[in-house]
Amino acid sequence: MLKLGVIGTGWITKQFIDATQEVGGWKLTSVFSRRLEKANDFAKQFKGEAVGYRDLDTFFQEGDFDVVYIASPNSLHFSQARQAIMADKHVIVEKPACSNPSEMKVLIRLLRRKHHLFYFEAARHFHEENFKTIAQQIKKMKTVQGATLTYMKYSSHYDDFLAGKEPNVFSPVFSGGALQDLGVYLVYDAVAWFGVPIRAVYFPHKLRNGIDGKGIAILQYPGFEVTLNFGKTANSYLASEVYGMGETIWMNNAADLQKVELIDKQGNKNDITKAVTTNPMITEVKNFTAVLQSSNSLANKQLMEDWLAVAVQVNRVMYDLRQSAHINFRSDYEFR
Ligand SMILES: NC(=O)c1ccc[n+]([C@@H]2O[C@H](COP(=O)([O-])OP(=O)(O)OC[C@H]3O[C@@H](n4cnc5c(N)ncnc54)[C@H](OP(=O)(O)O)[C@@H]3O)[C@@H](O)[C@H]2O)c1
Repeated sequence: MLKLGVIGTGWITKQFIDATQEVGGWKLTSVFSRRLEKANDFAKQFKGEAVGYRDLDTFFQEGDFDVVYIASPNSLHFSQARQAIMADKHVIVEKPACSNPSEMKVLIRLLRRKHHLFYFEAARHFHEENFKTIAQQIKKMKTVQGATLTYMKYSSHYDDFLAGKEPNVFSPVFSGGALQDLGVYLVYDAVAWFGVPIRAVYFPHKLRNGIDGKGIAILQYPGFEVTLNFGKTANSYLASEVYGMGETIWMNNAADLQKVELIDKQGNKNDITKAVTTNPMITEVKNFTAVLQSSNSLANKQLMEDWLAVAVQVNRVMYDLRQSAHINFRSDYEFR
């Protein structure tokens, strides 16, 4: 049985715990919240008798768990993951795992000294069957002529922002913004399907505090370009596409992969969609569970390293995009 501790008591943490309970082999034992009452109330929703904590040091020192799931505001991921690794806990951290490559480098160095630990970025769609199907189809294309990928959803937090507040997801203090929140899915697509681009440029629409509300990024590859279109201040219903020599891979959405089609030169459509799960975190949780349950397996260690390599590349591309648009976070200054 894998014992689970969680940081953050938002809906995404609930969805993750629900996924662990559906997959099986997990027991929620510890919940961290800034308020003890909130931690205990949150814990009560789930099977077992998880203990609530309001002090992070105590959570890590006394919490009876092997794996921590971190779903706090982005800027806290790094320090909380670092503390977890030092406390000998496996880490599953929400995307984006780190705010910049300096943070990522510190964690990688730490992990090198803790060979027995596993560290995963919870990039949900990266683990899904439809994501892999698209990767396989791209490999079969003799020529790739690029892609146009979209993920844009109006955030309810934008109403608060417009009313003069600064919610975490629209704050440079918390490493927020459209690129970090939704663009990261598209950067994952591009890096996993096409590799690291030779050039990455971001054209954001900046809000009053300098954070990006929406934007377009262009990733240049040898011989083709990939356009990323993402945002949190508008809704887009555009599909996404990968272009071959006449043939096209079509997907309903580049991050919520519900339907995938292969369209040939003549326009004939072949539905290649794989079944999707009701809880979108099931597949990643299944993968993490399988790896953690056989943590001595070299193959599993290699699998984690492979996923981590993609996470590191995504982190780098995200940073390059941000730099190209002069978007700075408080976390960036902490390493200067
Ligand atoms: N994979 C996905 O599909 C998915 C979906 C949504 C979000 N996410 C990721 O999950 C993470 C959390 O997102 P979210 O929208 O839930 O964020 P959030 O609401 O801003 O914060 C998450 C939790 O962190 C704690 N928190 C809030 N403000 C804080 C502050 N100022 N200082 C310290 N702790 C604070 C709160 O828990 P307490 O009040 O209990 O301390 C809150 O429940 C983000 O990294 C996001 O990218 C992933």
